[in-house]
Amino acid sequence: MNKTTYSPVKTSAWNRLEELAAELQSTKNKATIKALFEEDTARADKYSLKVGELLLDFSKNLFSDQIWSELLQLAQQSPLLSHRDSMFAGESINRTEDRSVLHAALRARSEDATSAEAQARAAQVEQQLKTVEYVSDQIRDGHWLGSTGKAITDVINIGIGGSDLGPKLACSALEEYAHERINLHFISNVDGAQILSILKKLNPETTLVSIASKTFTTQETMLNAKTAINWFKDKLGLDQAQTSSHFIGLTANPSAAIAYGIPEHQVLEFSDWVGGRYSLWSSIGLSIAISIGFKQFEQMLAGAREMDLHFQSAPLESNMPVILGLLGIWHSNFLGIQSTAVIPYCERLLLLPSYLQQLDMESNGKSTDLDEKQVNYDTGPILWGQTGTNGQHAFFQLLHQGTRTVPVDFIAAVEDDLSNPEHHRVLLGNMLAQSSALMEGQAAPEGEQYRYYPGNKPSNTLLLDKLSPKNFGALVALYEHKVFVQGSIWNINSFDQWGVELGKKMANTLLDKGSDAADLDPSTRALFDYIKGKA
Ligand code: F6P
Repeated sequence: MNKTTYSPVKTSAWNRLEELAAELQSTKNKATIKALFEEDTARADKYSLKVGELLLDFSKNLFSDQIWSELLQLAQQSPLLSHRDSMFAGESINRTEDRSVLHAALRARSEDATSAEAQARAAQVEQQLKTVEYVSDQIRDGHWLGSTGKAITDVINIGIGGSDLGPKLACSALEEYAHERINLHFISNVDGAQILSILKKLNPETTLVSIASKTFTTQETMLNAKTAINWFKDKLGLDQAQTSSHFIGLTANPSAAIAYGIPEHQVLEFSDWVGGRYSLWSSIGLSIAISIGFKQFEQMLAGAREMDLHFQSAPLESNMPVILGLLGIWHSNFLGIQSTAVIPYCERLLLLPSYLQQLDMESNGKSTDLDEKQVNYDTGPILWGQTGTNGQHAFFQLLHQGTRTVPVDFIAAVEDDLSNPEHHRVLLGNMLAQSSALMEGQAAPEGEQYRYYPGNKPSNTLLLDKLSPKNFGALVALYEHKVFVQGSIWNINSFDQWGVELGKKMANTLLDKGSDAADLDPSTRALFDYIKGKA
């Protein structure tokens, strides 16, 4: 792909949006979301849409019809559409790593493949998924036996980042579908207290470890794997436990997993065109298939595919990922908002904000554009969140009365079979009340200024008919494409992560050479020596 000369700030839409934002915020004409609803009684309907079983209401944001049409112009004037087509066609859009970005191919059906290359890829994916199906069935049906002949009851996924967050989120979100006899555990941190406390509770005879790592070189994962191998040796006298039926490898680097000792038929491969933070749809999702069964795992893929098809074909103005992406750009680049919160009103989505932190911040936390120039506009926002109603009793104070504006994505399932009508009514009632209160605000009673709620705080509401595997898949794909939309408009590479490399390299130097490392700064040297002295 040729280098571009595009910059979003050079488009006419960007300039116009800057003017409109200034007008909107000028003290004379200061607009409010509430007033926009008063002016247009059709606003709620106009600015909401349904895709599959996901409803998005984005009417509670501070934009007029004119601003909305300029935002759509911005998308039109950016390389978004050609970039989208290049991604789905398998072009090498991740230029710094010279890779295609094809996680959508993991959930495509064979009829979606329009070229010979795509057909070959589909056949390869089908083969890989067949292995996921076979292995997960064997484990679920009690046919996969440990070294003493017992069926597996506990599966530990050892992985970090994309090799942990996606599977962990899916297993907890889809708990309703979980296998009754098999427990899933996730070990990611190199903090030994995590793995040691989990291993303490498990029976090695019935435990399976799956080492999930795209590269099969990640420091934390390899150290945790080593500790697990030693645990099997201590408890069962198993020498080289990684060669036994207790270990599986999930990787895009199968030769490294085989060299590590994992039997070839226990290495589940995926392709290097799957980015780590987009890998839950691949063999990395084995733990999901073990937990909910392969049929439900396929439903999750089907939901994501529906979102892929929608993203590829819907016009900009009714394209859900485009809408979410544009709203984020409006907030970051024109209203000067620095962060965004995701608040699921569903305890099973507790891990969604941390999953989205990697997806969004590792993808769009960039300041060099595709022409290798420093950008002169803000890119990815700070994303954070927690479930409601818990957050209401913690940080919502700041959302309502703090000095910063934080746009919120409220997310909930309309029906929940794991709850009961009374709880669910209270849960959803709270969510709706919060989004309304944030927007409406309230004047302070005379002499009680501390009771002033300024209101005018923007939010989106995303309602899933139900938290099914299919809707969960669509939800995650929606955010993946939202991040893509923003990266395309910001003209950055959303698919590399060079920012994490320096810290990794310095940790290795520090661990090798200690405070003798020649170029260590004085503060870090002193801290290192202090810790050494105490240890
Ligand atoms: O350090 C960042 C990162 O490369 C992520 O992008 C990735 O998801 C994670 O590390 C784990 O990498 P791997 O799957 O290769 O162990």
